Amino acid sequence: MTEKLRFAIVGCGVIGPLHAQALASLPDAELVAVADHTTERAQRLAAQYGARAYTDMDEMLASEQLDVVTICTPSGLHGEHACRAMRAGRHVIVEKPMEIRQEAIDEMLRVQQEQGVKLAVISQHRFDPAVRQVRGLIDDGAFGRLVLGHAQIPWWRSQAYYDSGDWRGTWRLDGGGILMNQSIHQIDLLQWMMGPVKSIAAYTDTLVHRMETEDVAVAILRFASGALGTITATTGAYPGLATRLEILGDKGSAVIEGDELGYLHLARDEKEAVGAYGFSAKTSRPATSESDGSAASNPGALAIRSHALQIADMMRAIREDSTPLVDGHAGSQPVEIILGIYEAARTGTEVTLQ
Ligand SMILES: NC(=O)c1ccc[n+]([C@@H]2O[C@H](COP(=O)([O-])OP(=O)(O)OC[C@H]3O[C@@H](n4cnc5c(N)ncnc54)[C@H](O)[C@@H]3O)[C@@H](O)[C@H]2O)c1
Repeated sequence: MTEKLRFAIVGCGVIGPLHAQALASLPDAELVAVADHTTERAQRLAAQYGARAYTDMDEMLASEQLDVVTICTPSGLHGEHACRAMRAGRHVIVEKPMEIRQEAIDEMLRVQQEQGVKLAVISQHRFDPAVRQVRGLIDDGAFGRLVLGHAQIPWWRSQAYYDSGDWRGTWRLDGGGILMNQSIHQIDLLQWMMGPVKSIAAYTDTLVHRMETEDVAVAILRFASGALGTITATTGAYPGLATRLEILGDKGSAVIEGDELGYLHLARDEKEAVGAYGFSAKTSRPATSESDGSAASNPGALAIRSHALQIADMMRAIREDSTPLVDGHAGSQPVEIILGIYEAARTGTEVTLQ
């Protein structure tokens, strides 16, 4: 058997333990150390997985032989922590968003180049089977010309959620609200399927929660391909409905509801053409009509499967000396779109991306 890759996790709050669980499901990975500046959190997670606990990540980097460091700290600290680990010669997996400021992203890409290490950014839903299937069909041209792409995130977060960490809902460390924190997953999938975004118009507001950043947002997009799209998102829709991603083309259409393929219809599978007026089909499952008990209402209710698949993809890239599916450049793309939406909403003008 190949030698196990040695992992450490920095940040043992909500998502850090899920990474530990995902690593435990991978036979050729080993969690050797964890760090959190809250001592009890580090000790609890370390004890659960037989790892060593640190309160200072620099001390951990100096003391441990590590292959990969996973950064699970508040979003506005990702750049600082990822760069520290990369400067210590470690490969890095960083949670989403890659960072919340463009300058910090540029610095991460620069340090990664300079150190010759690998950098992966978590976007675990790219590894969901329904997403892989739709993306594969797009690559095959099965949807024809893409005309519209819609991402809906009608989620619920209570005030208690925003009060549970002093960084949540702040510009300085969360970098935004429903868009930068929760919707980044769907925005990444939307641009991964529809291609790069060219221009953006948007409104955002804070209607339900006591916090600095937005809890409701609507954006209109024009993609570089000429297709149009929308993003509608909130953490104020009680009790939290499933996300919905619609990819619509002139030879086929698909809807992903939550993590599942809710609808798929392709002209190439037709025995007879649908005729001049087409038809409007219902999705197979009314998933959007009720809370699905997933991350729509509970940030801790995440399955580890897709995280484990993404960590395995990074391990493959390290062993083969190739590029992980979501490298630093891919990880920066949804952040650039979100920063563009904030600028469009703030200035009331259409924003063009490079
Ligand atoms: N991929 C996903 O689905 C997903 C889900 C939840 C969170 N996240 C991301 O994970 C990150 C963490 O979110 P969370 O909900 O786990 O937050 P959290 O507040 O629950 O946990 C963050 C942890 O980092 C620790 N920390 C802060 N500064 C530190 C430092 N300098 N050194 C060591 N430890 C430090 C805190 O003590 C805390 O335990 C965020 O960027 C978030 O966007 C991703």
